[in-house]
Amino acid sequence: MRSIKKEKNLINKIILLRLDLNVPIEQGKIGDTTRIDKILPTLNFLIQQKTKIIILSHIGRPKGKIVNDLSLKPVSEDLKKKLKVNIKLIKENINKIKNKNFFNSFDEQIFILENIRFYAEEEKNDYKFANHIASLGDIYVNDAFSCSHRKHASIHQISKFLPSYSGIQLDLEVNALNKITSEITKPITCIIGGSKISTKISIIKNLIPKLNNIVIVGGMANNFIEYFGNNIGNSIKENNCDEIVKEIISLSKKEKCNLIYPTDVLVSNDMNGSSQNKEINQIDSKEMILDIGPNTINKIKNIIDNSKTILWNGPAGYCENPNFANGSIEIAKKIIENNKGNKIFSVVGGGDTVSLLNKLNLVDNFNFVSTAGGAFLEYLEGKELPGITALN
Ligand code: 3PG
Repeated sequence: MRSIKKEKNLINKIILLRLDLNVPIEQGKIGDTTRIDKILPTLNFLIQQKTKIIILSHIGRPKGKIVNDLSLKPVSEDLKKKLKVNIKLIKENINKIKNKNFFNSFDEQIFILENIRFYAEEEKNDYKFANHIASLGDIYVNDAFSCSHRKHASIHQISKFLPSYSGIQLDLEVNALNKITSEITKPITCIIGGSKISTKISIIKNLIPKLNNIVIVGGMANNFIEYFGNNIGNSIKENNCDEIVKEIISLSKKEKCNLIYPTDVLVSNDMNGSSQNKEINQIDSKEMILDIGPNTINKIKNIIDNSKTILWNGPAGYCENPNFANGSIEIAKKIIENNKGNKIFSVVGGGDTVSLLNKLNLVDNFNFVSTAGGAFLEYLEGKELPGITALN
């Protein structure tokens, strides 16, 4: 990978900069700015080098449609305040804009193209679309490690058309994860939660041979709870997963990897409601599983005490409602306690997990914090990430 940091003679070059500005937006306000703050060094470097910058990013999963709530407007305003430069959000149809539309006056320094996932071509890794975006700049920089596992036009295909470089944050994440994976000490425990079940469930199988314990919490745990014959009511789950759950269970036995899933949970009829503790065989049809219960928390704490490395990705519950944040908070506290005593090496990753730890002011207590969720897990899996391969 060629790093943009090492490049000279960038003056006046138009940089197409792919960032992951996929931050939580609640009623038009940014819930957590970690992903924005982490890419400021790259932007400051490019500004110092007197380049012109066009930012490409997505928010959420609009699936090729314009969704006003998933606009990059709040992000653009936050960046403007932090960088103190003129930033313009381009809302026009990307397919209709040309390079002559940019940088026509001296105060035009940074443009942000509106959510790239408003275009179906992005997720299709469309060749023509990528070629068109590439025609807007001179150099492509990927500083979005957290979406480098996606074979999308602005991450993968675009690198075919321009000299392509890694950004400062991407370098940092890849170097740190390389070091961690090469120096990792057993017993290794991976705690996997969150709501992106489809992304993660297939990764687990490949992680099993590398791990001693896999703790499954969050949305994915519901698939396991149901597989073992329990009613999960209205809880989120991924459909048609029985086969993969079965494979995960049998592989974990074969590889002697301890598989842990919740035995008691916190439920409610309403995501905004209060919590009730239940054993997994007591859940009513109208209830939703929204967090792990106290017995499960104790089991997980015990596993953390008996581990040397903890990799954590994805909250244990629906932390947006404080009534369901306890499982994640208790996990965080236990990891931090053992980390302070240097008993474990801890790595945490994923937008929602980092956002929660930030809110609790706990984020600086881990050995490494990755902005990436799915990309972090796929990297651990040893998989080649399309965005990284494209830069090589
Ligand atoms: C993330 O939040 O992990 C990245 O932005 C990728 O998002 P995705 O899972 O929707 O591709």
